[in-house]
Amino acid sequence: MPAYVVTWIHLLAVITFIGGWLFFQLAVRPSLLEGKTMSSSKEAMKMAQKMGQRFKTVGWVSLMVLVFTGSSQLLDESGSARIETSWGLIMMLKLFVFAIVGGLIFVHDLILDPFGEIGKSQRADTKPLLFAGKVVWVQRAIVLLSLVVLGIAVYLTSL
Ligand code: HEM
Repeated sequence: MPAYVVTWIHLLAVITFIGGWLFFQLAVRPSLLEGKTMSSSKEAMKMAQKMGQRFKTVGWVSLMVLVFTGSSQLLDESGSARIETSWGLIMMLKLFVFAIVGGLIFVHDLILDPFGEIGKSQRADTKPLLFAGKVVWVQRAIVLLSLVVLGIAVYLTSL
């Protein structure tokens, strides 16, 4: 497969992954919260759950596509002089931060699982896990660190 096609698929996975997480932080959550009071209806929470469950699959597929297309691009670089330079070191930093993002996604989707929890018998006075501090901060860390990976990747193209 031509390298530009692999790069195109790589960037498509980047757009889908980071775009999805940003959409949730900037559009879905604020729409559910409406001024810090959790006033969203059962229907709204059900819709949030559906979106969250569907994006869980999209997110993991994007991560796998990033790993495969990224590895393919790395293989293209293997043996090149560039890998021995600061480029190689910074690429390792990119992969290190990406690994942390992967770990946070694992914790978010498989341990916390805020979307799986919605709809289960919920005492009216308890705040859904989706709005719990630990979930909010894990989601923010995933978005922030993904943007750091993007920043490192763009810097790498200038080297
Ligand atoms: C959130 C995760 C990631 C983001 C945001 C990201 C972003 C990018 C961007 C923007 C480029 C530049 C495309 C170009 O114009 O050449 C790129 C290239 C590349 N990425 Fe990623 N990437 C991610 C994950 C990965 C992973 C997991 C790997 C390795 C397994 C990887 C390996 C590469 C390689 C080798 C290149 C080509 C570098 C070059 O030719 O300069 N990336 N990535």
